Amino acid sequence: MVFMQIADVQDEIDHELVSKAQIERKIAQVAAQVSEDYRNKDLVLIAVLKGAVNTMAAFSQALSIPVQMDFMSLSSYGSGTSSSGRITVRQDLSADVRGRHILIVEDIVDSGRTLGWLVQEMQRRGAASVEVFALLEKPSRREVNVAVKYKGYDIPDEFAVGFGLDYNERFRNLDSIAVLKPEVYQGEHA
Ligand code: IMP
Ligand code: MG
Repeated sequence: MVFMQIADVQDEIDHELVSKAQIERKIAQVAAQVSEDYRNKDLVLIAVLKGAVNTMAAFSQALSIPVQMDFMSLSSYGSGTSSSGRITVRQDLSADVRGRHILIVEDIVDSGRTLGWLVQEMQRRGAASVEVFALLEKPSRREVNVAVKYKGYDIPDEFAVGFGLDYNERFRNLDSIAVLKPEVYQGEHA
């Protein structure tokens, strides 16, 4: 299979943060742990569109237990690079989460506002349990404290794209995680 790699968009990429191999390795490790932790449980994976779609696809296929998958569309970022802080539901889940075990699959935890809201919302709806897998975290940017049980990679405070992460809807299909050249986003990331 051919993927879009950094070499294909090298004019706009400054450097790689997490390689395709590292992403695959981490997802396989977490999936093995989750398969063990949730064996014989009714597990629903929930991902926030669109950034977490790539992680959700790769992660779900690495599990050895049957799960359901559901998606929610929230607005938190708009088209820029900094969080608005206000969360609105654009498209809700189709599943009723009451009494079920929920694992939120996230691309990245930045301020933590989106995730903090979602964890509370799942609890409010009566989930039996709510845990989180986040492929990436920017610890230095955290404003809201949310427990991430299944951790991926910590990354520095730089605007990242690839493997689902976008800048103005671009670079989601890049096969690794990379940092854009500053001139591409013109210093928008405060
Ligand atoms: P938070 O609410 O500030 O934690 O933001 C979470 C969401 O913002 C993520 O799910 C991403 O969609 C987006 N986001 C945060 N940091 C980045 C980044 O570096 N690149 C692209 N999207 C990001
Ligand atoms: Mg986004």
